[in-house]
Amino acid sequence: MSSDRVKTGIKGLDEMLLGGLLPQTANLVEGPPGTCKSTLGMQFIYNGIRTYNEPGLIVTFEEFPQQYYRDAESFGWDFRQLEREGKLRVIMTSPEVSRADLESVGGTIETLAREMGARRILVDSVSHFDQITEDPVELRAVVYSFVNSLKREGMTSILTRESPVLLGADEAEDNTIGFVVDGYILLRYVEIESAIRKALLVLKLRGSDHAKDIRQYEITPQGIEIMSRFEGREGIMSGSPRRMADVFVEAFGKPLR
Ligand SMILES: Nc1ncnc2c1ncn2[C@@H]1O[C@H](COP(=O)(O)OP(=O)(O)O)[C@@H](O)[C@H]1O
Ligand SMILES: [Mg+2]
Repeated sequence: MSSDRVKTGIKGLDEMLLGGLLPQTANLVEGPPGTCKSTLGMQFIYNGIRTYNEPGLIVTFEEFPQQYYRDAESFGWDFRQLEREGKLRVIMTSPEVSRADLESVGGTIETLAREMGARRILVDSVSHFDQITEDPVELRAVVYSFVNSLKREGMTSILTRESPVLLGADEAEDNTIGFVVDGYILLRYVEIESAIRKALLVLKLRGSDHAKDIRQYEITPQGIEIMSRFEGREGIMSGSPRRMADVFVEAFGKPLR
């Protein structure tokens, strides 16, 4: 494992990323509601501060700020305490984002990042950016400049994005951000033998190799944990392996590599 990686500290994930995220890159975490996108992002920020001594920022467009702090607390992450220590800042902003809002958030981020020496940032979620403009060309320019400003400040970012489909493949109408980012992690629900499980795939990690297989993950009292492999545990593979492959293709919209 390389030491110049930005470790997420999430069990199983750094190994899939061959050590962690690449420094000063933007990384998209995409999945339907409830797949733990926010949890993954908050865990990245929390571990960054507590384990790797890297201050962090969280920009959230969630409607209920209190809920956000409570969700973190349920995993034992005391965000208010980290804020008091000057290692974390949570920027709450309206879900009705305009271009002007985003530009002013951008200014705030740059100022705070410098003041705190922030190394990591979570933007939860970039789905709200779609409201900025109807014009895809303009949207692309705005997103591109936002992502680049995070990198310019020397931060490694996790951007979450909601995908609408609960089960099965989905094709985003406009996947601008998928092309702009350096890392791309997909979260999905998969139905196996009448049970819904959660699965994770590292779709891309620019400039690096990464695990290509699909893994199951679970939510624990300490946050999320990625299991070794989908097949091994709990005899999931006791069914037909061919059927399993079909399930994955359906869920991720692409064949297993
Ligand atoms: N402390 C906890 N222990 C177990 N499950 C939790 C805990 N906190 C939240 N969850 C569950 O985690 C799931 C995903 O949460 P979240 O990260 O907010 O998803 P997303 O951002 O993808 O919509 C929810 O289904 C929620 O019920
Ligand atoms: Mg969320």
